[in-house]
Amino acid sequence: MRKKIVAGNWKMNLDYNEGLALFSEIINMVKDEATGTQEAVICSPFIHIHSLVQLAKGYNKVAVGAQNAHQEEKGAYTGEISAKMIKSTGAAYVILGHSERRQYFGETNALLAKKTDTALKNDLRPIFCIGETLQEREANTHFDVIKTQLVEGIFHLDADQFAKLVIAYEPVWAIGTGVTATSAQAQEIHEFIRKEIAAKYGQEVADATTILYGGSCNPTNAAELFAQPDIDGGLIGGASLKSRDFTDIVKTFN
Ligand code: 13P
Repeated sequence: MRKKIVAGNWKMNLDYNEGLALFSEIINMVKDEATGTQEAVICSPFIHIHSLVQLAKGYNKVAVGAQNAHQEEKGAYTGEISAKMIKSTGAAYVILGHSERRQYFGETNALLAKKTDTALKNDLRPIFCIGETLQEREANTHFDVIKTQLVEGIFHLDADQFAKLVIAYEPVWAIGTGVTATSAQAQEIHEFIRKEIAAKYGQEVADATTILYGGSCNPTNAAELFAQPDIDGGLIGGASLKSRDFTDIVKTFN
């Protein structure tokens, strides 16, 4: 059975104390809700990570991650944070390739391939984001765009490395817009992604890969999305900033 994950992406929100307070609330609310193969993950700004890891100790269904990591191991990159540093806090995950990083920070598939290698080398599990823009969907190129993101970003990995990844399909037009992909639209892409993984790595690897949906996912639409056969949970932006909403999304699996 592949892992079911609800991951929150706090983005650039919450100061240090606000982040700790929200995380404490979330732990208290989700600790009895995440069961079996489920996991709740919070990807916070860097400044929170170490403290969140401490708060999460003893809760084996709650994990912490970062939202980015540098592609180099270390060196003269003022202001950057390495995968090794993140790992040393006790974090387990790192989001890579979020569309906001692709759009505002010029992250290309080639750069993301390097970031993925460095994250894996340092024993962090990448939550690797892919997804098309509205223009790409309207031009009917969304399948090509997603295939290219897979091929250039992560299909250079060997099967053992690939097995450590979580994939998140986040249509750019659904992020922060309140417009969610319909469950049929999301399922169609998730099925496509799983087929591409099967063609490259075999059915067993494909069946074991957790593929999350992200983009205006909330407690109202999560159940229908997560009921789709190829949707294994969500990457949650806005709704992860409210403990009740995030917990209700986690509870969707029960
Ligand atoms: P929203 O849930 O706010 O649309 O954000 C989704 C997202 O970008 C998660 O990474």
